Amino acid sequence: MSQKALVLEEAKAPFVLKSIPIPKPGTGEILVKVLACALNPVDFGVQARDIIPNVKYPTILGLDVAGDVEALGEGVEGYAIGDRVFFAAEYSMNHGGLQQYALKDVSDPNIGKIPPNIGHGEASTIPLTLSTAAIPLLSANPVGAGLNPTFDSKVSFDGEVALVIGGGTSVGQYAIQIFKYLGFGTIITYASARHSDFLKSLGATHVIDRTEVPLPALSETVKTVTPLPIKNIYVAIVAVPDALEAGYACLAHGGQMATAHPAPPKPADAEATGRKIYGVFASTKIEPNIEFGTAMWKNLPKLVEEGTIKPNRIEMLPSGLAVVPDALLRFMTGGVSGVKLVVNPQDTI
Ligand SMILES: NC(=O)c1ccc[n+]([C@@H]2O[C@H](COP(=O)([O-])OP(=O)(O)OC[C@H]3O[C@@H](n4cnc5c(N)ncnc54)[C@H](OP(=O)(O)O)[C@@H]3O)[C@@H](O)[C@H]2O)c1
Repeated sequence: MSQKALVLEEAKAPFVLKSIPIPKPGTGEILVKVLACALNPVDFGVQARDIIPNVKYPTILGLDVAGDVEALGEGVEGYAIGDRVFFAAEYSMNHGGLQQYALKDVSDPNIGKIPPNIGHGEASTIPLTLSTAAIPLLSANPVGAGLNPTFDSKVSFDGEVALVIGGGTSVGQYAIQIFKYLGFGTIITYASARHSDFLKSLGATHVIDRTEVPLPALSETVKTVTPLPIKNIYVAIVAVPDALEAGYACLAHGGQMATAHPAPPKPADAEATGRKIYGVFASTKIEPNIEFGTAMWKNLPKLVEEGTIKPNRIEMLPSGLAVVPDALLRFMTGGVSGVKLVVNPQDTI
């Protein structure tokens, strides 16, 4: 039996849409009919620039998968054919999401059953993107800011102020929701005003319009919103160096700034002012993130079902895998605004 897949034959090669065999689940694996795969900026970076070390070619990209269990390998417990699942995938011929059928090892904790209140497309927005916000904010020091490594429901930052720079990004939308989950009383975000109502529905209390206020002016503008010190900040904008600088300028002495940047530079006065910065390589499948990732996935289905974590809004791309190469270019041209791009490989013509 064959399927359609988008294959990268070698580093920096163009994608090839081709027929390949449907993989067979080995011991402890499930075969998943992929009904949604969310795209991420890193997919463009890997295809065009080979930015992730140790990718073995040929490979199939697609890190965020949702689908239905199609077949069970030997020894699989806790899953049945037809279960709706979402999971953190990996770049590999059998396990990448940009194909019609992918394998998943269910001894890996980075998988959950999709709660009944969301669809496959929405579920696919969660794994990598939520991790990118959650790891540097919640996981224990020194990996993250340690705001709630165990998802303890008693933790509360009631009355405190948080700031999210880039709240309109997919990652920033989850950062806003994490601050709300933690009980922050004031959650300021820097984003386009056209997303205001949506970002307020996620938990933002104030939106500073990025089309009106340039990043270097942000710290002064924030002072007009609150006189309180800002001890917790998330910066979701990586490509614009001004974003980290603007966040740092807003950060109270002794405060913590988390970011989607994998290796944020440390300002010269960080030690003297007690300001800490936490970057992330957002895989929950590798150290030092495995323990936190396990806790996150254990809690995730319930947090989604009760509406504490709402998935990103999605733009479902037409025609399945064929449009992915063009869609990835949109990450580089500002062509993604307030939505997650999602593809259903079953729609491939
Ligand atoms: N370290 C890791 O492991 C990791 C993992 C995943 C993602 N990331 C990184 O995290 C970043 C966010 O990823 P994503 O998927 O969430 O991106 P995304 O949703 O594709 O980002 C698009 C959004 O960025 C907003 N934006 C662009 N420039 C801005 C600025 N100067 N200020 C405020 N908002 C701005 C746009 O706002 P408008 O709507 O106003 O146009 C748009 O809504 C990317 O750089 C990505 O590479 C890192």
